[in-house]
Amino acid sequence: MRTLEVVLPAEVRSYPVFIGRGLLAELGRIAAERAFPRRIAVITDETVAGLYGDTALAALEGVGYAAELLAIPPGEGAKTLDTAAMLYDSLIQKKFDRGCGICALGGGVVGDVAGFVAATYLRGLPWIQVPTTLLAQVDSSVGGKTGVNHPAGKNLIGAFWQPAFVLVDPEVLGTLPRRQLHAGLAEVVKTALIGDRELFAQLEGNWEGFLAGDSELLEGAIHRACRVKAEVVSRDERETGLRRVLNFGHTLGHALEAATGYGYFLHGEAVAWGMIGAAWLSWRRGLLGEGEGKRVESLLLSLPKPLLPEIPREKFREHLRRDKKIVAGRLHYVLLAGIGEAVVDGGVREEDLLSALEYLRTLEAQP
Ligand SMILES: NC(=O)c1ccc[n+]([C@@H]2O[C@H](COP(=O)([O-])OP(=O)(O)OC[C@H]3O[C@@H](n4cnc5c(N)ncnc54)[C@H](O)[C@@H]3O)[C@@H](O)[C@H]2O)c1
Ligand SMILES: [Zn+2]
Repeated sequence: MRTLEVVLPAEVRSYPVFIGRGLLAELGRIAAERAFPRRIAVITDETVAGLYGDTALAALEGVGYAAELLAIPPGEGAKTLDTAAMLYDSLIQKKFDRGCGICALGGGVVGDVAGFVAATYLRGLPWIQVPTTLLAQVDSSVGGKTGVNHPAGKNLIGAFWQPAFVLVDPEVLGTLPRRQLHAGLAEVVKTALIGDRELFAQLEGNWEGFLAGDSELLEGAIHRACRVKAEVVSRDERETGLRRVLNFGHTLGHALEAATGYGYFLHGEAVAWGMIGAAWLSWRRGLLGEGEGKRVESLLLSLPKPLLPEIPREKFREHLRRDKKIVAGRLHYVLLAGIGEAVVDGGVREEDLLSALEYLRTLEAQP
């Protein structure tokens, strides 16, 4: 088992991230060691409940915990206030009180909703994150951002609420659909690009193994990626500035997701295209050497993902403008000064992003 610590300002409790194959079966032991409340609502989705619900409950009950499974429908559509309200109803009906805890067992959707419920039910209950998608294991489970969507936009309602600990078992990725795994790998590549040169080299050197879901390789990469995310979060718990580097590739990626009506790309797939564009801009601005630029591009091109559909320039511009980072006036754009080194640049203009889209098109035209 590998452990790392998310160190936070004194007024917020720091917490550990435990990473290891087979750790799900140790959930109860670890919770007990950390004196986590003895009654736990395990919030999950129906798919994950079917795959890992029994293992999680057995791990908790085996050491004397009282645990109950509360399952929401799978997918982004369930990340709503209605789902949160349904969960509040169940918790009230089952008489969960301030002496109880919550465990989020699932992908980023479950983590965000369960975390939001944990942050708000009875003004806040302690909670545990057990992420089961690669995206959740390297990204959403570390950092304490929780929330739900609103018809007017994603993640508009939420809270910062840090978990008591995060438990990552890379073995559960064995049942994850390959497409989800690859989309999660895009976020691993992102983390390497913004903060871990050695991780990037490992990805390059073992790319086929990563694409095939080798759990030993994944365990090492998850550890390194969580370490980068934990460091960034430690230095900027409330997302005032530094956390911005985590958005590398995301301005273009979000615009691609939006312009294709969501549902065409998985988030990570759109971000993979976005990172190719951002690396190209970094090279064009003279920040990133051509050799490194090509390495970034070739790794990301070889990540399986849908082709870029035809997107009219004006439509893309509209979606870029909706991005709050641009509306605020100046665009703070994340570029690379090298593999493993992100910089925030105030000089990137909307036209540059449109050129990046054109550039992505030329790549697609290649055989
Ligand atoms: N809080 C944050 O900091 C943060 C960061 C990034 C993303 N997010 C959020 O995360 C969400 C996306 O998360 P996601 O990509 O994990 O999606 P998800 O939670 O919808 O999971 C994807 C699918 O995989 C299934 N699944 C989960 N684990 C599985 C497993 N081990 N085996 C088989 N199937 C499994 C789920 O049932 C679901 O159908 C978005 O809502 C996004 O906003 C939050
Ligand atoms: Zn992302």
